[in-house]
Amino acid sequence: MNSIKFDLRSDTVTKPTIEMRKAMAEAEVGDDVYAEDPTVNRLQSMIAELFGKESALFIPTGVLSNQIAIAIHTKRSDEIIVEGESHIFHYETAAPSIISGVQMYCIPSEKGELTISSIDEAIRPGDYYFPRTSLICIEQTHNRHGGTILSLSSIEEISAFAHNKGIPLHCDGARIWNACAETGISAEEYTRNIDTLSVCLSKGLGAPAGSVFIGSKDQVEFARHWRKLLGGGMRQSGILAAAGIHALENHRDTLQEDHEKARMFADLIFNQTSCTLANSGGKVETNILIIDCGTASDPQSLRNECSKRGLEISSGRGQCLRAVFHRDITLQEVKAAALIFIQSFESIVKELQ
Ligand SMILES: Cc1ncc(COP(=O)(O)O)c(C=O)c1O
Repeated sequence: MNSIKFDLRSDTVTKPTIEMRKAMAEAEVGDDVYAEDPTVNRLQSMIAELFGKESALFIPTGVLSNQIAIAIHTKRSDEIIVEGESHIFHYETAAPSIISGVQMYCIPSEKGELTISSIDEAIRPGDYYFPRTSLICIEQTHNRHGGTILSLSSIEEISAFAHNKGIPLHCDGARIWNACAETGISAEEYTRNIDTLSVCLSKGLGAPAGSVFIGSKDQVEFARHWRKLLGGGMRQSGILAAAGIHALENHRDTLQEDHEKARMFADLIFNQTSCTLANSGGKVETNILIIDCGTASDPQSLRNECSKRGLEISSGRGQCLRAVFHRDITLQEVKAAALIFIQSFESIVKELQ
C-alpha cells in the first residue's frame, strides 16, 4: 500500500499551516464559558460583522452548530423542512429527533434550491393532529449536490415566503465561503434575509476545528445555553479561534483557486476516461466533484486502485465517487492526481474485461 500522496476525500483534511500554528500558539486566551476569552470574542465579533448580524458564537463543530439552531427554533413534536440531500438529513445521525424531538420533512430538489411550491405543499395545516412546521433549512454550498451554489434570488424568494408564513430560515453555511469566493457576492448579501446560520472554519478555510453560529443577540444567548447543555462549552478555546481568525484573514482569497483545481481535474479525467460529471446542474460550481463511473468500472474497485496508487477519494451514491479540492493540493499536483485516477481507471477496466 502506497502512502497517501493526494487526499481528496474532503476539504476537512486540510492541515493548519505554520503561520496558523504560530497564531494559535500566540493567542491571548481566557475562559470562554465565562465569555472571557479575548480571541474567541474577537472571532465572534469579526463573524457577526462580516454577516451583518447582531451576534455570533464559536461552536466546536458544524453538526453541533446546526443542531443548536434547530433546538432554538423548535419545540418537541414540531417538523422542520430540509432539502432531501441535505447534510442535516444524511449525516447528522438523526440528531434533530434526539436533541430537539422534531421530525424532518425532506423535499427533493434539482440542485439544492427548494421551490416555493414544494415548500408550500410541505408546510402543515394548523390542525392539532399535524406536527407544526417550525423551521426551514437550506445548505450553502450544497455538499451532496456537488458544491452547488444556491442563488441569491432563490434564497430571497424562500426567505420572503417563509417569513410571510411566520417560519424562520436557517442556513447550513458550512461552505458559504466558497459561494462568496465564486460569485463575488458578500456573506452579508447572501444572508441578510436568513435568520440563523452555521458556518465552518474547518473545511476549505483550513482551520483545524471550529464553526460559528450566527443570529440575533437573543438567538445567540439561547444558543449559548444549548451549547453548554450539549457539552460544547470550551475553556481556553482562543487557541482554536486564533486559527479561525487567521483563516478568515488569509485563506478566503484562495478558495476560488480550489474551484479551478476541481475544473482542471474534471477536464483531465472526463477527457480520458468514460467517467462522467454527476454534479447536479451538470457543471463544477465550486470545489466538489461528483464522478459517475458508469458501467465500465466498479466505483469501489476504482477507489481502491486509486488508493493503492496514493490518491484518496470518497465514495458517493450508486456508481459515483467524490473528490473535493482544497488548499493542501496545488494546481501542479492536481495534474498528477488526475493521472493516477486515469491510470487506475484503465487498470480496473482491463481487469473487468
Ligand atoms: C454541509 C455540511 N454541513 C455541516 C457539516 C458538519 O461539520 P462538522 O464536521 O464540523 O460537524 C459538514 C461537514 O462536512 C458539511 O459538509
